[in-house]
Amino acid sequence: MRIHPLSVIVLLAATPVGAGGSVVGADAGANTMRAALVSAGKIQIRDVARPVAGRGQVLVNIRYAGVNPGDWKAAGGSSDESAMPGVLSGGAGAGAAAASVSVIPGVDAAGVIAAVGRGVTGYRIGDAVIVWSQARGTYAQYVAVPADTITLKPERLSFAEAAGVAHAGLAAWNLLIDQAKLRSGQTVLVLGGAGGVGSAAVQIATNSGAHVIATASARNAEYLKALGASTVIDYSAQHFEDQLRKVDIALDTVDMDNAYRALAVVRRGGHLVSTVGLPLPAQCAAREVICSGRTLRGTPIRLALKQIAEWSQAGIFRVNVDRTFELTQVLEAWQYSQAGHTRGKSVIRINH
Ligand SMILES: NC(=O)c1ccc[n+]([C@@H]2O[C@H](COP(=O)([O-])OP(=O)(O)OC[C@H]3O[C@@H](n4cnc5c(N)ncnc54)[C@H](OP(=O)(O)O)[C@@H]3O)[C@@H](O)[C@H]2O)c1
Repeated sequence: MRIHPLSVIVLLAATPVGAGGSVVGADAGANTMRAALVSAGKIQIRDVARPVAGRGQVLVNIRYAGVNPGDWKAAGGSSDESAMPGVLSGGAGAGAAAASVSVIPGVDAAGVIAAVGRGVTGYRIGDAVIVWSQARGTYAQYVAVPADTITLKPERLSFAEAAGVAHAGLAAWNLLIDQAKLRSGQTVLVLGGAGGVGSAAVQIATNSGAHVIATASARNAEYLKALGASTVIDYSAQHFEDQLRKVDIALDTVDMDNAYRALAVVRRGGHLVSTVGLPLPAQCAAREVICSGRTLRGTPIRLALKQIAEWSQAGIFRVNVDRTFELTQVLEAWQYSQAGHTRGKSVIRINH
């Protein structure tokens, strides 16, 4: 996994500023919130203006935020997840925007609805919810998000577990269900099965009736079998391409090297889907493999989240919380994520 120059990021002592850069008074309270703010290569904990729920939105009091590699990639100026339009404040080139604009990181969370905007139906103040925030902002006490990017938190999941559902779960869902059109009985190879996206993918594929093979280090073999993988290949000891042929779908969450190698094991007419890049279209075409990355097309976010929440309540979609960090430990959380061996998800505790 690629390492980013996080050494430029330092945690500064809190100095109250508003979300738009304006100073918040020392007696600020009800209209402010504590948040992690990334600006000019630094991450700081600040008191900033609390967002309000606009039309169609809910304001969520966050208990835990999920940690995703995209959080620190965006902070470091990388835009390799900017294929999702509207991330940060600028869409294309979003990573560059991070260098000059104050941004609250974080794309998923779990919490309790504190306010409901006009036009929202189906949710009430006090509802516990899972949140996906395409515009970021979950490393904070409150986030305002469109009501169609949340779902009710299943009682069976803790807030910490629920915070790890949305971003990884939606990526895996989009790639397997919407892009690769996964069908029962197919064989799915998940490269990087033990990570956030990989763990979600193994379970989504298993719950959809697929036969699942995953790569991981040996220490994660039992973990992945418990999630539904029938075979786990230890990537440090074996090359998956020496053992597999004609899989229906390969999902790569690791790197481009894995993507190229996966191309050789997907059957003609099968799918190679990836969160980390794809071979050139001509290379995919030469092997008659359909290659695609994460898009926002397909199943509406609220429906994909609802299905994953239902599986969670039924006990067939679990989130392993690897590490829990405090809001003052964002740097440590990102360094742990950068090391590339998170099992399931890490989360940041916001309100407890
Ligand atoms: N475009 C999008 O919308 C989108 C969305 C989500 C994620 N992503 C990207 O997708 C990638 C994965 O995200 P994530 O959240 O799943 O990351 P993650 O949770 O940090 O992934 C960590 C996992 O990777 C595994 N791993 C590391 N090297 C491996 C290798 N050579 N072979 C197999 N497994 C390996 C580790 O397993 P071991 O400990 O067993 O090594 C660990 O469990 C990131 O680059 C992220 O930025 C993109």
